[in-house]
Amino acid sequence: MELSSYGGTFIISLCIVSVTGHCGVHQNLDVVIMYDESSSSGSTGFSYQRQFIVSLADALHLSSTDTNMAGLGVDTYAYYGWGLRDYFTSSAINSKLMNISMHLGDGGSNLAPGFEMAWTHILSNSTRAGSQAWLIVLTDTTYTTSTKGLDEAKAAGVKVGFVGTGSVASYSSYASDSKYIVSRMSWGTLSSYITSVVEFFCPAYCENFLFYYDLPNSMSVQADTHSNVGYYLSGTDVTYDVHCCGAVSSVEFKATTSGTFKFQIWRNYVLMSETSVSAAAGYQTHTFSPKLAIQAKDVIGWYSSGVNPIGIASTCSGDLCTSGTKRATNMGTVAVGASYSWSNATDLPDTAFAIKFTIVNSTVPSYTQSSPVYISETLAVGSSIMVFSATDDTGEMLAYSDPSSPYFAFNQSSGEITLIGSLPTPHVETPYTLTIEIMDACFNTATATINITSFAVPPSFHNLPTEVELGDDVTAETLLIVVNVTDESAPSIICAQTSILPETQYFRLDDYMNGSAAVYLNPDSVLDFNTVEEYKMFITCTGSTPLESVLTIRILDKSVTTPYTVPAWAAGAIVVSVGSVGVVIGMVCFLIVVILATTDEAEVLPPVEEDKDANKEVDDAAQMYKNVDRIQLYREGYGEF
Ligand SMILES: *[C@@H]1O[C@H](CO)[C@@H](O)[C@H](O)[C@H]1NC(C)=O
Ligand SMILES: *[C@@H]1O[C@H](CO)[C@@H](O)[C@H](O)[C@H]1NC(C)=O
Ligand SMILES: *[C@@H]1O[C@H](CO)[C@@H](O)[C@H](O)[C@H]1NC(C)=O
Ligand SMILES: *[C@@H]1O[C@H](CO)[C@@H](O)[C@H](O)[C@H]1NC(C)=O
Ligand SMILES: *[C@@H]1O[C@H](CO)[C@@H](O)[C@H](O)[C@H]1NC(C)=O
Ligand SMILES: *[C@@H]1O[C@H](CO)[C@@H](O)[C@H](O)[C@H]1NC(C)=O
Ligand SMILES: *[C@@H]1O[C@H](CO)[C@@H](O)[C@H](O)[C@H]1NC(C)=O
Repeated sequence: MELSSYGGTFIISLCIVSVTGHCGVHQNLDVVIMYDESSSSGSTGFSYQRQFIVSLADALHLSSTDTNMAGLGVDTYAYYGWGLRDYFTSSAINSKLMNISMHLGDGGSNLAPGFEMAWTHILSNSTRAGSQAWLIVLTDTTYTTSTKGLDEAKAAGVKVGFVGTGSVASYSSYASDSKYIVSRMSWGTLSSYITSVVEFFCPAYCENFLFYYDLPNSMSVQADTHSNVGYYLSGTDVTYDVHCCGAVSSVEFKATTSGTFKFQIWRNYVLMSETSVSAAAGYQTHTFSPKLAIQAKDVIGWYSSGVNPIGIASTCSGDLCTSGTKRATNMGTVAVGASYSWSNATDLPDTAFAIKFTIVNSTVPSYTQSSPVYISETLAVGSSIMVFSATDDTGEMLAYSDPSSPYFAFNQSSGEITLIGSLPTPHVETPYTLTIEIMDACFNTATATINITSFAVPPSFHNLPTEVELGDDVTAETLLIVVNVTDESAPSIICAQTSILPETQYFRLDDYMNGSAAVYLNPDSVLDFNTVEEYKMFITCTGSTPLESVLTIRILDKSVTTPYTVPAWAAGAIVVSVGSVGVVIGMVCFLIVVILATTDEAEVLPPVEEDKDANKEVDDAAQMYKNVDRIQLYREGYGEF
């Protein structure tokens, strides 16, 4: 992922790149232009309309297989101009319009006959399968006696746009969308609206555009002989003019040989990204995953260290034959972010390659947090909490805003969130919210909400429950385990033996060094494997909340085992993070009611004579541990109950 930051301020004004030149290559549009022949427009107004229509035809790059354009005039009547399939060049349309003698109806203007003719005579029966039909109305009136033809056309999926002298509101019920209205127009300034109208058809966001000279699978191609070679499909050629922002979704090509090339996106001679594509001989499609972020005016190219596999058109002619493609020989690899001086590369006149690429809208960026990030309320200042990143389907984000917060710092470049101020320690879960504005490479914005919740760390046993083994011939006082318990939120921790099953006086929980607690075998104990094979000592430690765990002491037959020796880890010093552990050595009753602070339940642990019942008690205890499971989930590396 590539990140760059504008210091929290989004520069939205960069957003819309003006559309110039041809942007409609390979669109499949059937467009009807309705021009104004009323006396109020006059011959001067008509002349402005002619220039406008010709410019639009030019931008949409008319051709028999792609965009077609028809025209009709309106005053209080409609006058058929020409049909969708009559002219396929802007100059032919210009000649036709030059030939039209205006009716200059002085009975006023009425759009209704024009709507009716556009629909019944043209769009209802002569659009092509798969094309998008459009009606563009140039008018100095808002008056219509009927919207019948218009309504029928819109109901059939025709998109309607207006360039009129009225307000947006006066056309908003006629146009398909208010974004297809140019309001308050005057005939004299009509040409200044060409870009706005071109954007109806060639939006700033790619939506779904194809860029190619000819369909690669139908091309006859020659093999390239160059290796260590780069190509740059200049946007000065209409064919490869990337006029919109979006995501490259796929590349199709016809290879004359197998090989590998790097599909590249260039911006002002800087390599923005590259993706390795392996080619087999013949026609194929490579789908990019993730898609590749691309902006208007970016240039597509490719580099091949071996022989360039992509075929060169055997013949190249017509408007789409490229002449601005550049070839860099002995190019070498260029690092992403570095530049290459394409201006010095060789122009290839009348040379097209069998390559086609598709650019679609990138998805709007989004960020979803499934659950808050939980942090201890005693987390050390400076600690890293998470690395934030939002995604669209290109994975490339342009900028993040700074969610200013007294506790959290956000690195707009790396996405890392760190703790910069000590959190309050109320010992209850406390939510914090960070709001980050995100903007993707196409200036789509979204808001991300990050929840961070602080919690009081509950007491935690680090070495219980566990099992120790003890030979039944041991009679001397013996240290069995030093309880390792911590509670970040409590100044001190008190541990007590809650019960021992079966009941016995052989074991005790007692002070160890430095205020920690340990389990000992009492001196002069008489253990016997044949009587009791196993004891369970339940220990409750209370810091900010009580927590119980269990030590299992397995008695081994002296005839087959060696006496227990305290393992090094168990005899080690206890380091308690806050406060120290104290031991309450009280008379431990046979019946102890354990009430956990976090639950309403009271569990009664009855005395048990038989070993088999001990298992049941462990289950009861396990039941109680569930009260802390929820907290355990928050912390990694803990909670091995
Ligand atoms: C213009 O009018 C002349 C004379 O009527 C005609 O010969 C010519 O074909 C017309 N041109 C177009 C483009 O309609
Ligand atoms: C479409 O309908 C109109 C009016 O009925 C007719 O004049 C025109 O020839 C038709 N066009 C096609 C292509 O059928
Ligand atoms: C493409 O993206 C733009 C900007 O987000 C949006 O306005 C437009 O509706 C999208 N078009 C399609 C076809 O998704
Ligand atoms: C984040 O907090 C907000 C406001 O309290 C809440 O609406 C949202 O559901 C929370 N999101 C998550 C993932 O917990
Ligand atoms: C933010 O992250 C970048 C990239 O990891 C790093 O170079 C920079 O030093 C960080 N800035 C701060 C203030 O930590
Ligand atoms: C107990 O604490 C003292 C003083 O902090 C220290 O020197 C000693 O090593 C500790 N003993 C153990 C067993 O941790
Ligand atoms: C107690 O357990 C914690 C967590 O596992 C560990 O970091 C610490 O070193 C242990 N203390 C002793 C004295 O073993």
